[in-house]
Amino acid sequence: MSIHLAASPGQIAPVVLMPGDPLRAKWIAETFLEDAQCYNNVRGMLGYTGNWQGRPVSVQGSGMGQPSLSIYANELFSEYDVQSVVRVGSCGALTDRLVLRDVVIASGACTDSSMNRIAFEGLDYAPVADFGLLRAAVDAAERRGTSVHVGLLFSSDSFYAARPELTARMVDYGVLAIEMEASALYTLAAKYGRKALAICTVSDHIVTGEQTTATEREQTFSDMVEIALSAALRD
Ligand code: HPA
Repeated sequence: MSIHLAASPGQIAPVVLMPGDPLRAKWIAETFLEDAQCYNNVRGMLGYTGNWQGRPVSVQGSGMGQPSLSIYANELFSEYDVQSVVRVGSCGALTDRLVLRDVVIASGACTDSSMNRIAFEGLDYAPVADFGLLRAAVDAAERRGTSVHVGLLFSSDSFYAARPELTARMVDYGVLAIEMEASALYTLAAKYGRKALAICTVSDHIVTGEQTTATEREQTFSDMVEIALSAALRD
C-alpha cells in the first residue's frame, strides 16, 4: 500500500492507462478488460487491473490537474514499479486546425504550473513523450483509420483562465489544445526513467464554443482507449 493507493505489491500491472475521471477508469475496465479487479477506492480514485488480449494492464484515475495526477504517478512509479503510463483524457481545442472529437497525441506539453519551475529552480524543463509510445500510438491510429494530430498540449493549472490572452500566445507558438495533466506526467516519467504518453480527444472547442455530447464523448473515448492499449501493450 502507498499513501493514496490501496493495492498490494504486484496488484498493479507494469502498464497503466490513466484517465482523469475515476468513473472513466471503471468504464474502461468494464468495457475493455477481462477479469478486471478493483484495487483502489481511496478517495474514490478508482483503479483496476485486468487483461487486454491476454496481457495484464491497469487503469488508474488521476483526478484533475497536475498536483492530483502527480500524487498517483509518483506512487505508481516509486511504489509499484510501473513502467509505462498512458494518459487518456480530454482537451479543449485552441486552434481551428482541430475539430470536436479529434484525437491529439502530445509530443510535448507546455505549462503555466509552478511545479517544474520550483523543481528546476527557474530553468525551463521541456516535458516530452516517450518516442516509442508516441510512434506506436500513431501507428495504431493509422491501422484503425483514425486520423490524429501530433503536437503540443498546454497543461494549465486553471480550467477557468485568469489571463486567457496568455493561452493565445501559446497558440501563436504552435500549441494545439489545452488540458491539465500531461506536463506533470511527462516530467515524472523522466524523473523515474519510465515511459509516458498523453492522448486526448477534443471535448470542447475554445475558439468556436462547441461541445461534444455525452454519447460522442463515449465513442471518441473508445477509439482513444484502443489506440492507447495497442500502443502500450505493443511488444
Ligand atoms: N481547459 C482545460 N482542460 C480541459 C479543457 C479546457 O477547456 N477541456 C478539456 N480539458
